[in-house]
Amino acid sequence: MANKLQPFFSEVQQLVDEKFDSCFEQAGIPQKLKDSMLYSLKAGGKRLRPILVCASYFAYAKDVNKVISTAAALEMLHTYSLIHDDLPAMDDDDYRRGKLTNHKMFDEATAILAGDALLTNSFGLIANDGQLTAEEKVEILGLLSLCSGPAGMVAGQFLDMEAEDKKSTLQQLEQIHSLKTGELIRFAVYAGAYLGNANETQLTYLNKFAYQLGLLFQVQDDILDVVGDAGKLGKSVGSDEGNLKSTYPKLLGIDGAIAKKETYAQSARELLKKADAEASYLLPLVDYFSQRDH
Ligand code: IPE
Ligand code: IPE
Ligand code: MG
Ligand code: MG
Ligand code: MG
Repeated sequence: MANKLQPFFSEVQQLVDEKFDSCFEQAGIPQKLKDSMLYSLKAGGKRLRPILVCASYFAYAKDVNKVISTAAALEMLHTYSLIHDDLPAMDDDDYRRGKLTNHKMFDEATAILAGDALLTNSFGLIANDGQLTAEEKVEILGLLSLCSGPAGMVAGQFLDMEAEDKKSTLQQLEQIHSLKTGELIRFAVYAGAYLGNANETQLTYLNKFAYQLGLLFQVQDDILDVVGDAGKLGKSVGSDEGNLKSTYPKLLGIDGAIAKKETYAQSARELLKKADAEASYLLPLVDYFSQRDH
């Protein structure tokens, strides 16, 4: 990782983890459910979505405390999506974040409910955030619902399941990937900039930037599923082939997927300039997302 990013990554990771701890102080969560939620939350995710929220915020503003609850809420919601993505009825995977998947460590019912609990808690975290105005809360909650819901991430997961064992066109693949992965990335970038008081023009370009970044991120995820190192990734490789998934390497070959990824990266960089954000952490993050090995 570029040295420039390391202190920034560590700062966000620590702030988000502290926020998680404060969430579990609330009474009334059954012990096993709590253990199961914390097992996946604390399993060592990269925290890339909170990092994106903060990077986007820092492009326009300074006091990062303003966005930590939003960033932590998004990571909670993302963690729910991973727990459910790994379930036997979906991708049926045994490893995640270097550990057994939630349903393997606990049981299927607990994993489903831990996911439900993380999802619902993410909305509560924003609703109870003392840093946001009432108007900001409504905007952020509405956007999170849109990006994660039945026309957002869940739509993408649904289409991903439907596309198993079928030949998808590039256009169909872009639709699946931009929904299942891109929408939460779009939330991260948009929410950070919105809370940093970016103007309408900047938000419009950042929205387009996030679309390209989301595709880039999922192409690399698909590539790593073929050529990655399971030890580094903390999840099994070859899962997509085993599930007959529609992926970029399957459609375009590895070299074609790498070339496509570079076109998304180039568009993303150009859009950052238009959003007046090319001096922010978002620019090195494009390269990090494209070249990451885990
Ligand atoms: C994995 O996301 C799921 C996808 C949307 C491709 P990450 O690669 O960000 O996973 P964690 O959060 O670090 O475990
Ligand atoms: C998952 O895509 C996207 C979401 C969880 C919404 P993948 O199924 O490719 O993610 P991994 O490879 O299991 O992390
Ligand atoms: Mg999946
Ligand atoms: Mg999966
Ligand atoms: Mg994958």
